[in-house]
Amino acid sequence: MRAGVITGVGGALPEQTLTNADLESMMDTSDQWIVERTGIRERRVGGVTSALAVEAGGKALAAAGVDPADIGLLILATTTPDRTVPATSASVSEELGMRCGAFDVNAACAGWVYALVAAQGFVATGVDKVLVIGADTLSRFTDYTDRGTAILFSDGAGASVVEGREGREGSLGLLGWDLGCDGSAESILYCDYGGLIKMEGREVFRRAVRVMVDSSKRSLEMAGVTAHDVDLVIPHQANIRIIESANQRLGIPMEKSSVIIDRIGNSSSATIPLALEAAIAQGRLHDGDVVLFTGFGAGMTWASAVVRWGQT
Ligand code: ACO
Repeated sequence: MRAGVITGVGGALPEQTLTNADLESMMDTSDQWIVERTGIRERRVGGVTSALAVEAGGKALAAAGVDPADIGLLILATTTPDRTVPATSASVSEELGMRCGAFDVNAACAGWVYALVAAQGFVATGVDKVLVIGADTLSRFTDYTDRGTAILFSDGAGASVVEGREGREGSLGLLGWDLGCDGSAESILYCDYGGLIKMEGREVFRRAVRVMVDSSKRSLEMAGVTAHDVDLVIPHQANIRIIESANQRLGIPMEKSSVIIDRIGNSSSATIPLALEAAIAQGRLHDGDVVLFTGFGAGMTWASAVVRWGQT
């Protein structure tokens, strides 16, 4: 059996910054309320999903030292594709010069972790190198007259190269995972064709904490480790209070989390790989570390993965 290990990570953000002060001039809100209730100070908007995915994917390939032609599969997690048909992964694969299978995954903000777990499955069955991208442009579907959602959402992309390593299954790469979906909760967060995102914020918040905690516990159990063994949590960046509540219930101190929500907001499937990129840039990851990825999104979906960091 082969382990799938992350060998390169890259991120991309659109140039335009939307600050809390900008939002104050657009609606009845305040910087103080947004910072206290969400942890967000500014977010990036105005992106194109495929372009952000190409930029992040290119950076991940360069970081891994992998030629695009050597990638055996592209999985693009997005809930905001460029078009209905074809899949955005088709455009991304062409732009990056790839000649392999490519498909999109829509699991909302849990999408990148869904794709990471799927990549491990493909690596185990013989694909050598998988490019896993999370890219979203929620600003295109955000109602800027609704202060309950406009303050949160943003655009961005994050990518990782996952490569197979012989004989390391269970000791390197993905040690445990949990994917879930509760379709009975789809009405609390949705966007119809041609419409804008509608959300029951309080209900999403309540369920988000519960599913992140339960999903993390299941992944840790499958991995055969405890919350105490976790060196770094890389959570979906939806609301700082959701991250704090989940950490508290798991018994993991906030210092062990990669948090960049203050400057990127909620860019759906992009936030976890972007927070991973930030952790690597800050030198926070070391070989042998136990990393917990956990997220939730519209559906309601959730996904967690426990990874033993390192390449050999
Ligand atoms: N500025 C000022 N006041 C506001 C704002 C705002 N932007 N938004 C709401 N308020 C007011 C409300 O009107 C309410 O006032 P009232 O008490 O007079 O009625 C008060 O603040 C409290 O409102 P709540 O909705 O209870 O505020 P809450 O603390 O729950 O924060 C928020 C709202 C930020 C939306 C929060 O519920 C949240 O983050 N929920 C989770 C959302 C989420 O994570 N979504 C992403 C899912 S992932 C995906 O798939 C995209």
